[in-house]
Amino acid sequence: MNVVVIVPAAGSGVRMQNASKKPYIELQGQTILGHTLCALEQAGSITSIVIVVSPGDEDLCRHQVVSHLDLRPEISIIAGGERRQDSVANALAVLPPACDVVLIHDGARPFVTSKILEETAAAAYSCGAATAAVPLKDTIMQRDDTEPNAPKPLERDKFYAIQTPQAFKPDIIMAAHAHATGKAMQATDDASLVRYMGLPVAITHGSYENIKITTAGDLLYADMLLAKREADNSH
Ligand code: CTP
Ligand code: MG
Repeated sequence: MNVVVIVPAAGSGVRMQNASKKPYIELQGQTILGHTLCALEQAGSITSIVIVVSPGDEDLCRHQVVSHLDLRPEISIIAGGERRQDSVANALAVLPPACDVVLIHDGARPFVTSKILEETAAAAYSCGAATAAVPLKDTIMQRDDTEPNAPKPLERDKFYAIQTPQAFKPDIIMAAHAHATGKAMQATDDASLVRYMGLPVAITHGSYENIKITTAGDLLYADMLLAKREADNSH
């Protein structure tokens, strides 16, 4: 199985409120994006990685992130778009031809494991589409905009917290993006675009540690996780 990975890293990190752009914030001496690329490299079936960065940041990414790492997969760096969906679409337009599975993984999720990556890619190879997910921890209520004091409790067990990696057969993810563009549909992930077409998406086991670094507090937690992993590896 030949897996090509798209890494969306072209966001503006508004919720992070940091002077540095989110992918280039350093944790334990390495950028967040660098940590993510190193985690991806560990999965043997990944042969090629397309990194999507803010337009104009291609050289920054190459010099500040990629050139320090002697990465095994072939790397290309391209410009993203306004929404995450646009950034992924730009990468789909330049996919290498030899590709059995397209895996999409947020640049801001450095704690993904090879097991999650390989299981999600394999599930997509057999089902067509797959996403990592975890059970929700908090109680969930739905806001009622007409009645602010009447949120509706929902059954937590019926919901997933959806993560990346997400993986797809190439024709399915291409069709899902074309369908979404045609109908002006938006989503914050790619599995939702496949579901909007009515096609199946397999759920694989993500992990509570596979966080998307989003706010300043996440940096503290991420720093702790990295330190713990380093200590575990040195034993
Ligand atoms: N992303 C992207 N292109 C965009 C928006 C987001 O490639 N136009 C990427 C981000 O860089 C990130 C991933 O999609 O790796 C998930 O997005 P998110 O965590 O929301 O990051 P940002 O959009 O940068 O953060 P915010 O929403 O707080 O601005
Ligand atoms: Mg965002």
